[in-house]
Amino acid sequence: MEILPILVFFLATVVSTTQGHEPLVTHHIHLLRPKSGAGGDSVPGVSCLSWRLGVETNNIINWKTVPAECESYVGHYLLGHQYRKDSKVVTNEAWLYAKSLNLTNDGKNVWVFDIDETTLSNLPYYADHGFGTELYNSTAFNTWVLEGTAPALPESLKLYKKLLKLGVKVVFITGSGEGQRNVTTTNLKNVGYHTWEKLVLKGSTYSGNTSYVYKSTERTKLVKSGFRIIGNIGDQWSDILGTNVGNRTFKLPDPMYYIS
Ligand SMILES: *[C@@H]1O[C@H](CO)[C@@H](O)[C@H](O)[C@H]1NC(C)=O
Ligand SMILES: *[C@@H]1O[C@H](CO)[C@@H](O)[C@H](O)[C@H]1NC(C)=O
Ligand SMILES: *[C@@H]1O[C@H](CO)[C@@H](O)[C@H](O)[C@H]1NC(C)=O
Ligand SMILES: *[C@@H]1O[C@H](CO)[C@@H](O)[C@H](O)[C@H]1NC(C)=O
Ligand SMILES: *[C@@H]1O[C@H](CO)[C@@H](O)[C@H](O)[C@H]1NC(C)=O
Ligand SMILES: [Mg+2]
Repeated sequence: MEILPILVFFLATVVSTTQGHEPLVTHHIHLLRPKSGAGGDSVPGVSCLSWRLGVETNNIINWKTVPAECESYVGHYLLGHQYRKDSKVVTNEAWLYAKSLNLTNDGKNVWVFDIDETTLSNLPYYADHGFGTELYNSTAFNTWVLEGTAPALPESLKLYKKLLKLGVKVVFITGSGEGQRNVTTTNLKNVGYHTWEKLVLKGSTYSGNTSYVYKSTERTKLVKSGFRIIGNIGDQWSDILGTNVGNRTFKLPDPMYYIS
């Protein structure tokens, strides 16, 4: 597959946590060219970009798979520079916001992080499974999770470290089941997330509940126990909608799957 060499490059980049800057690009003003996409793609590229925009803005909801014709588009987006640049814009804004706050250092300020496609990246798995064009297979996905080898999303790891220095506590809330606590803990620590206030996994009492309900309930518990959620970051809208979402929310890109 043509994207495999790029995957190797991407993984090397992710694992070594990037310090490099994006090359400067000379910008030209073009007349609108209705049938060309960013990379000079023809019509399918344009519709896949529109589809991704619809997904990221929560206009397209409850979708099960990435359109088959967009596999290459989504693959190139995720393994190329754009995904990383888009993530960086999000985490930079989060940081600018966090450092602008006049926080009372009483140990009650928390930042909620989702895990999959926010804190850790499952791209190595999805690159082998059609970048979301295949139906979710829990058996195959859980086998990957149990390896405990998901790399960090570099931009989120940087934000995490800066927030800790600011005295903000981190709470992870993930849709992964309680049975994955051990491997999740190990994976997080191995890639640089060394400390947290709480790691909340989805307990069996939530079976049958949407992520939206589960995460809202867990955030409400946090607030009732005296924490202030000053910020909240995730790749799904269900991470950042509902009750007690936090003073500000930040949405990372994820064109691979939808969780309600
Ligand atoms: C920051 O907060 C402290 C106490 O919460 C307050 O005394 C101080 O005036 C605030 N400073 C600014 C610049 O808002
Ligand atoms: C799901 O993944 C498992 C393990 O890789 C595989 O055996 C199974 O056939 C897959 N199921 C479907 C419906 O593709
Ligand atoms: C948790 O993981 C560690 C290291 O991966 C392992 O040594 C330990 O036995 C595991 N504990 C349980 C309860 O699975
Ligand atoms: C959570 O799931 C259970 C079992 O399906 C259901 O009875 C309950 O109404 C759900 N709660 C919410 C708030 O959706
Ligand atoms: C967060 O929102 C609450 C409720 O609106 C407000 O009282 C509080 O000052 C806000 N905190 C920050 C850090 O902006
Ligand atoms: Mg996620």
